[in-house]
Amino acid sequence: MARSSRAIRRIGILTGGGDCPGLNAVIRAVAKSAMNVHGVEVFGIRDAFRGFVEGDGKLLGYGDVSGILTQGGTILGTSNKHNPFHFPVVRKKVSHLHLALGGEVRNEDATPVFRDMTRALLANARRWRLDACVLLGGDGTMNIGMKLSTLGLPVVGVPKTIDNDLAETDVTFGYDTAVACVTDAVDRIHSTAMSHHRVMVIETMGRYAGWIALKAGVAGGGDIILIPEIPYDLGKVVSKVTERSKTGRRFSIVVVAEGARPKKGTMTVERTVADSHDPIRLGGVGAKLADDIEKASGLETRYTILGHLQRGGCPTAYDRALATRFGHHAMALVAAGRFGRMVCLKGDAVTSVPIAKAVARLKLVPRNHPLIQAAKALGTSFGV
Ligand code: F6P
Repeated sequence: MARSSRAIRRIGILTGGGDCPGLNAVIRAVAKSAMNVHGVEVFGIRDAFRGFVEGDGKLLGYGDVSGILTQGGTILGTSNKHNPFHFPVVRKKVSHLHLALGGEVRNEDATPVFRDMTRALLANARRWRLDACVLLGGDGTMNIGMKLSTLGLPVVGVPKTIDNDLAETDVTFGYDTAVACVTDAVDRIHSTAMSHHRVMVIETMGRYAGWIALKAGVAGGGDIILIPEIPYDLGKVVSKVTERSKTGRRFSIVVVAEGARPKKGTMTVERTVADSHDPIRLGGVGAKLADDIEKASGLETRYTILGHLQRGGCPTAYDRALATRFGHHAMALVAAGRFGRMVCLKGDAVTSVPIAKAVARLKLVPRNHPLIQAAKALGTSFGV
């Protein structure tokens, strides 16, 4: 989108998609830069596009954004279900006979229907007198932001996801904290694996990209690392744990990303969430793999699913600093009228790219990534 000719007096800010450590640090950086440097007011929109469509938000004061640098989660709330172009509107399904007999309207009677609610969203933007919006989110939020900017809403994006799978940025904030959390878990599992002489499978997040499993697997000294980008051969996994056991290393650590799949198989889907813009929820590959390994090798095997633990807690120092730079840069883009862009990290520089470029593809782990090469040289198996 072209440079704005209007002066920016007030911006909206929202956090969309799954939460991650560092969101509050970005909110703080955007808001403090806006207030201190640019004399711009900041309006916080609650629960992402849910609040934008339903008119739920408030003007943020300095006190709202003080003391939140180190807090996990998001003070604004988030949602990965409310796409304004395909917005779930609840329609109650209740029969008159049911009501006549004294029945109540229960939640399970409600089925969502989906509507384009962008007119309501744009009306709220006008009502709140927003000159621009800063959107903190992953590919889903960026896609929505790009479409909203074509409808005339000036937006700037800030890339967030623990999965680190957004293209056009070397790293997203939240990823480093998730890696630290998983590495700590692998360390803890290591000691119990050694004591009991077991195979321990640790399932991490990472739907389509295995960045978390790869980095934490290497940092935690995992013996086998399985990621979505490299479909595994169960036979190779079993021979690795068997060989370790026979040569006196009587335990093995397997780090598996939730999106990993066997060569001739599919991803393990836990459930689908109909009203989400990415409806598939993965989970369970760790349990399946542990069962397969135990049956094929005869070695006692346990599994642990780390799940949402990876998204919680205080951001690491790296994520706090990155989030601060990202938020500050996002506000500079807004002030310069450079809309339709996403902040990104390239090498040591914080810069920006068109949002359209960032959402054009996912950033997957290349099969020849230096970390994979180093791990392989040290004897780590990738199940192939
Ligand atoms: O995109 C981040 C992510 O953490 C994925 O790795 C995971 O599959 C998903 O979010 C889980 O989302 P939810 O909060 O809906 O369970």
